[in-house]
Amino acid sequence: MEYSITAEEFQQFRTLIYDESGISLGEQKKSLLASRLSKRLRDLDLGTFSEYYAKVTQDPTREEFTRLLDLISTNKTDFFREPKHFDFLRDQILPGLERVKRIRIWSSACSTGEEPYTIAMTLYEGVANPDRWDFKILASDLSTRVLAKAASGTYDEDRFRDVPPEFIKRHFLRGRGEQSGVFKVKPHLAAAITFRRLNLMDDHFPIKNQLDLIFCRNVMIYFDRPTQETLVNKFHRYLKPGGYLFIGHSESLQWVNHPFKSIAPTIYQKEG
Ligand SMILES: C[S@@+](CC[C@H](N)C(=O)[O-])C[C@H]1O[C@@H](n2cnc3c(N)ncnc32)[C@H](O)[C@@H]1O
Repeated sequence: MEYSITAEEFQQFRTLIYDESGISLGEQKKSLLASRLSKRLRDLDLGTFSEYYAKVTQDPTREEFTRLLDLISTNKTDFFREPKHFDFLRDQILPGLERVKRIRIWSSACSTGEEPYTIAMTLYEGVANPDRWDFKILASDLSTRVLAKAASGTYDEDRFRDVPPEFIKRHFLRGRGEQSGVFKVKPHLAAAITFRRLNLMDDHFPIKNQLDLIFCRNVMIYFDRPTQETLVNKFHRYLKPGGYLFIGHSESLQWVNHPFKSIAPTIYQKEG
């Protein structure tokens, strides 16, 4: 059974979700929200969305709010999704850092980890002596559920459709026996990545040294224009002069005020 949500209840959830995550749910998302949350109401044995709203907002641990966000957010991702960005990293960014052999990257809405592991594979495969490089990738997301999956570094075989077989061999361990069909990331690749829960709505991020590259792909599409603008301008502060911002292929900063130079449709560079 699906619970019905009143216009007032929908408005309450919309405001809460927007204030906390920046995710902007349009009027047309009312039935989607109701259907995504109905099972949770049933599991908690609640009668109405108002009761659920009270539970979410009165929970001092904020666990229920995290669960709510997990239910409404879209975590779709893939290894080598939108591959032009990884080609650009390999061909345009890495050669310029060959002398210093150091790169700092932030995968800022990393979902279940395919994006940061793809970045790490691109780094290892894209330079002549990876062991002599200092690679560091910060991978973050708002959802603790997807971060736990990402940090486990474990994926079913069918997730690797777009990964070259030699990359799989070099960077993942094939499970045997009961683990057959499951691949686990090898320690050298895992060591390059730090996973952390970060909310893109925060004013400050725990990043001390400016970055060479920020991936913010397929999340800004859920934010309204003012939220996108604030975020993109924040990213600018965390990048080195000459650093890059990659956004998703269906996203655009065309209507957003920002100080970046546009290099290609989804690639932006901080001048200097
Ligand atoms: C569709 S996935 C994108 C994954 C990956 N970047 C890609 O392009 O394949 C969007 C992710 O954004 C995360 N997200 C949504 N709002 C967020 C926020 N305010 N701060 C950080 N992450 C957020 C969601 O939890 C979800 O995992």
